[in-house]
Amino acid sequence: MRSMLARPDAERVISDLRALAGYGSCGTGVERRALGIADCESRRWLADRMREAGLAVEIDAVGNVLGRTAHARRIVVGSHTDTVPRGGWLDGAFGVVAGLEVAREVAAHPHCYATGIELVSFSDEEGHFLPMLGSKSYCGEIAEGILASLRNTAGQSLAECMQGLPEATASLARLDTAAHLAFLELHIEQGPVLESEGLDVGIVTHVVGARQDRVRFHGRANHAGTTPMGLRSDAAQALFRCAVAWADACSGLQIPGAVWNVAEASTHPAAGNVVPELGIASFQYRAQERESLDRMAEALASVADRAATLTGTRVSIEPVFALDPTAMDTMMIEALEEQALRLGLRGRCMPSGAGHDAMVLGRHLPAAMVFVPSRGGVSHSTDEDTTPEQLARGIELFARTVWSICSRS
Ligand code: HGY
Ligand code: MN
Ligand code: MN
Repeated sequence: MRSMLARPDAERVISDLRALAGYGSCGTGVERRALGIADCESRRWLADRMREAGLAVEIDAVGNVLGRTAHARRIVVGSHTDTVPRGGWLDGAFGVVAGLEVAREVAAHPHCYATGIELVSFSDEEGHFLPMLGSKSYCGEIAEGILASLRNTAGQSLAECMQGLPEATASLARLDTAAHLAFLELHIEQGPVLESEGLDVGIVTHVVGARQDRVRFHGRANHAGTTPMGLRSDAAQALFRCAVAWADACSGLQIPGAVWNVAEASTHPAAGNVVPELGIASFQYRAQERESLDRMAEALASVADRAATLTGTRVSIEPVFALDPTAMDTMMIEALEEQALRLGLRGRCMPSGAGHDAMVLGRHLPAAMVFVPSRGGVSHSTDEDTTPEQLARGIELFARTVWSICSRS
């Protein structure tokens, strides 16, 4: 069988990754916010590599880049190539570029595979406009009216930013559950478990749920020198009290594995001699159970109300996104375990604390993920790294599993 003979070229994958990292490079890392100049250029680069591999290429109306073999039925592989501000070179990019390597083989020997490949770099996984924008659109989870109203964190509309990709079609690429059999995503772990346990690969059992709310405290601007403390309606005080009280409350809930993060805090007007009238921040929280997320949300509502009362301010809480925990597919997990055993890799099953496109695809298709170690457990940082040998082991497991499914399906 052809899939037994085929070998992924890890050196080519790493060289492609280095070329991709040249778009938006910043120090040892990369900054490619979704649909910014560097991201659009990198999408064109990727489309060219897909064409060279013999794939039929489409860039859709939200910036998803898709490359398909000619097969009627296909396995979807890929991840994302956008990054967080000052991000790393592997988060997302690894799964897309390894997917390209897997697709090259199937495109070069189409008659040896019953099932083909649909390689996708999903747009805006990192949420510059909306977390998982591309995969949600691909899965039909976003109404077109919502797309028209989306703005990025700099206030630009999606339509305006899509002008950076004039080759994009006006239509949205869509998952077809009759034609698409499964989704497989290779990714770096972005945490410390594999490295600390000396393992080669992780096979993901489920991706934790995540929510983010924007909390705004509304006070009254006044002179910071003349307004007596008891007469202030200070939105900054309210915000910071709320942030600290929420961290304490979340900790008190003792939910195993739960994490929380307060970021993007700002106060307005921004001047040392003005009592702020607006305090605003994002409150993000993640946990394995939806019920745990509900409890963290209740804790936030309660401490925010208390902070508002104590400071004479008013509070509003607006949901930014909510992603439910998603289980990966048992049969796909077994297929990965079988290949890992065959390759003599040391691995374990584990949950993912980071969000991934697989959590969206996993609601519609059997989905699975493979992790490789992250140096020092660091990601969402320019320090993110993984050795070539570790990358190669993940590529081998990913490629062999995809090819073996493509051969027999
Ligand atoms: O934020 C996340 O979990 C992912 O990196 N998008
Ligand atoms: Mn990320
Ligand atoms: Mn990622």
